[in-house]
Amino acid sequence: MAALILFGGGGDLALRMLLPSLYFLDHDGLLPDGLKIIAAARTEETTEAYLKKVREAVQPRAEADNAWREDSWRRLTERLEYMAVDATDADSLKPLKARAGEGAITAFLAVSPSLYGRIVTAMKTAGLAGPDDRIVLEKPVGRDLESFREIDDAVADAFDERQVFRIDHYLGKETVQNLIALRFGNAIFEPLWNNLTIDHVQITVGETVGVGDRWPYYDEYGALRDMVQNHMLQLLCLVAMEPPSDLDPDSVRNEKVKVLRSLRPIMAEDAERVTVRGQYRAGDIEGRSVESYEAERGQPSDTETFVALRADIDNWRWAGVPFFMRTGKRLAEKRTEIVIQFKPVPHSIFGHGERGDIYDNRLVIELQPDEDISLSVMNKKPGLEQRMQLQPIQMSLSWGQDGKDGAAPRRRIAYERLLLDALHGDSTLFVRRDEAEQAWKWVDEVADAWSCRECRPLDYDAGSWGPEAADLLLSRTGRKWNVR
Ligand code: BG6
Repeated sequence: MAALILFGGGGDLALRMLLPSLYFLDHDGLLPDGLKIIAAARTEETTEAYLKKVREAVQPRAEADNAWREDSWRRLTERLEYMAVDATDADSLKPLKARAGEGAITAFLAVSPSLYGRIVTAMKTAGLAGPDDRIVLEKPVGRDLESFREIDDAVADAFDERQVFRIDHYLGKETVQNLIALRFGNAIFEPLWNNLTIDHVQITVGETVGVGDRWPYYDEYGALRDMVQNHMLQLLCLVAMEPPSDLDPDSVRNEKVKVLRSLRPIMAEDAERVTVRGQYRAGDIEGRSVESYEAERGQPSDTETFVALRADIDNWRWAGVPFFMRTGKRLAEKRTEIVIQFKPVPHSIFGHGERGDIYDNRLVIELQPDEDISLSVMNKKPGLEQRMQLQPIQMSLSWGQDGKDGAAPRRRIAYERLLLDALHGDSTLFVRRDEAEQAWKWVDEVADAWSCRECRPLDYDAGSWGPEAADLLLSRTGRKWNVR
């Protein structure tokens, strides 16, 4: 019988994301039969006390989705137990191995990455790294290419690459996978998906939350390493990659690595022109006053809480098409979107002026707060005016109402997909080592370009869309962010 071990089972990630995901998967009958789940952490406590905490975390979430059932909960508790262990000590892990039994083990490290090296070494000694076992690593693995390699070398010493599942939870989001379906399941987009038709691409990941008490981690990383190195570059790869020959993990990941290799390095002399760093001041968000990053941090800091940059992909398909990316904390809206901006019609036959009434077509792939894909197209305004009037309309391409009883399907937690794939050994939606390395290499160059210039981040008001320089990044080239 297979076992899933959650190291860091009492921590924030486990209680907020992993256990609710496991509840939903079990509720929907998707967990493999007989799967045991062992939550492991340092604290001495009984399984009963632990289950009480888990229930407090899971029940409100399931109730909000109208998916709380006592019998589903009971089923989960029958397979879930708690063990107090020191995961860095092989002797302490041996009883865990005995409890897990003979089947394949999937171990999820939901602990500080500074412990990854010691944990995998202890797992190897304790017999928890057999050829059928798997390890799931949560980000951040390292803070730069060098520290990534150090940790990953320790992992590689215990596990083969095929056994390693590096999570980027953005890849578990339904709309991100839908982007793959949109691009490669339809004949109409791919012929347009290049520099002949596309003017530029925008990727925005805006958050209203501040850093708050996560600052000890965040202050060392900043937005570039926390968001761009992983989530944003993954989104960029899925937009920009060539069609893979199939959906096999390596076919998809080979194409993503090629994109990362084609990213033009950002050098110190370009940094001011193509990047913006910001840090939030106090301000108002959704009618509430919030304090500055430095006030949360309790002392001055040069860490960026906002990044905007222009990435160029030096290959045949994307030559001359900038990819603008921005992400930040304490922005005006929680909004994640990818915008594919098409080029204007070559000549307008409608109305006066160079372009008449025509707006350029735009495909907006919205991940948050709503999941939607919409295409803006020009349409004739109804009426008998002498001169034909046009208006843009939004065509929604999303799945609509195909859930039970015509309702929209429940919005799944990204970890549900990823946990299930890891349990089934499918690594298509996980990050391969060379992919992570390429992403770190590019991000390290940006960080180096900044450190040469010793630039302090620009201030922006909490509740805005970041420093004005982020607007200038586009307006200098005659473009605008979709949401401002
Ligand atoms: C995490 C970052 O990886 O992603 C956080 O560490 C960020 O800083 C989070 O808030 C955003 O995830 P989501 O799914 O809420 O967009």
